Amino acid sequence: MTTDSYLGYSDRLFRLAGDLSTKPWHASCGEVQSALNGQAAEQLRALVPRTVRRAEGAFFTGSHVRARFENLLEDSTAFWDPTCGAGDLLLAAAGKQRLGATMRDTLRLWGKSLRGEDLQPSFVQTAKIRLFLLAAARHEERGDVIEVDVHSGLELLRGIRVADAHGELEKARSYGGTLLLNPPFGSMQAPADCNWGSGSVSQAAVISLISASKIGLGQQFVAILPDVLRSGSRYARWRSSVESLIDLSSIDLYGQFDDHTDVDVFLLAGRRRRRRHVREPSALWWPHRTSAPTIEDIFKVSVGTVVDNRDPHSGPELPFLIARDLGDLGAIETPGRSRKFSGRTFKPPFVAVRRTSRPGLRAGGGARAAGTLVTGIQEIAVDNHVIVIESQSGSTAECKQLIDVLNSPQTSDWLDSRIRCRHLTVGVVRSIPWSQ
Ligand SMILES: C[S@@+](CC[C@H](N)C(=O)[O-])C[C@H]1O[C@@H](n2cnc3c(N)ncnc32)[C@H](O)[C@@H]1O
Repeated sequence: MTTDSYLGYSDRLFRLAGDLSTKPWHASCGEVQSALNGQAAEQLRALVPRTVRRAEGAFFTGSHVRARFENLLEDSTAFWDPTCGAGDLLLAAAGKQRLGATMRDTLRLWGKSLRGEDLQPSFVQTAKIRLFLLAAARHEERGDVIEVDVHSGLELLRGIRVADAHGELEKARSYGGTLLLNPPFGSMQAPADCNWGSGSVSQAAVISLISASKIGLGQQFVAILPDVLRSGSRYARWRSSVESLIDLSSIDLYGQFDDHTDVDVFLLAGRRRRRRHVREPSALWWPHRTSAPTIEDIFKVSVGTVVDNRDPHSGPELPFLIARDLGDLGAIETPGRSRKFSGRTFKPPFVAVRRTSRPGLRAGGGARAAGTLVTGIQEIAVDNHVIVIESQSGSTAECKQLIDVLNSPQTSDWLDSRIRCRHLTVGVVRSIPWSQ
């Protein structure tokens, strides 16, 4: 898919940059400031269809996240963003780089110290022009003359190129600078040598781990990543693999990437260490991890076993529990709906919880993991959008106590920091603190 429609924006910036050496600064400074802040992301949404943006994993870091990211960056002689988009992370890094004696000297220095790649020529061109504009704005602020024309200025920024991050990272050895990352968030097939996952996995997980392995000892690694990598049970081995390479200094739960992108992200920062084996990921990943008893110590947690559109309607006719029927009742005695099913069933009493769950209160103000007590004497077939929590002792009183724990504001707060994606996992429900 092509993002050529974005060339209209990079051409506009090119003309703006061209005017800087011929027109007074005040004629362009408003437009330069917009170009250095959220405009590139706005123009991406305006010019490139959503389907293309999704397919290419193109979501640019807006001013808010960028400010948080910049706070994590430490001084370094070089910075590399292998999926640089329109250069927002490189701009954060360039803001920390020293200026040369002239603007030409600065661009020559940045050409050596800043490296970035992207598959999309229109993004690469935009990233280079924005870096040119930043250099101009900083020199203007210092009272210098903007003496470089845009053609020769962009040629000096040789480190920013059209290339495939996978190939570039593959070739890299001990990069001697800070690695910046906000990779595409889509899925890809796990590489053949992947030792933390298989099948379809997050591209962000693959690129971040390769990137972490390609920087020199002691170099900083700072990344914006989808929350599922921090909180999902599927990525537990990925987390250990990251820690086997990176000595983590912070995991910062950011929340929704921006108003237009419904994905929660976190910011990870740390330094490359000598490779070592890590069995248990550190507590930094989950701010409120506890050694106190958890739901898993008292209950058995599983996912409903019926995949309704796939499982044959054969076997005994059974009461059938689906997420939509949980409502806000708090208790159900034998579901009214039924279905034939020959697989594993559940014997009441148990507590049923919807798997889909957004951070924050549910519509209507209910708790994020609100539980429904299911009673009755018949075995029940349960849909796989429902999490089933069974008391190991078969006690209804214990199930009621569990509902109080699940409905408590403490559990909702705990869940919001533990898992920011749009569903609950069995692993997370098992680790909810029991006594609060
Ligand atoms: C989430 S965006 C982030 C861009 C930039 N780092 C930022 O923070 O604004 C990911 C970028 O990766 C680029 N991309 C996707 N696959 C790539 C690949 N194989 N090699 C290089 N860039 C790639 C996309 O074009 C997109 O610009």
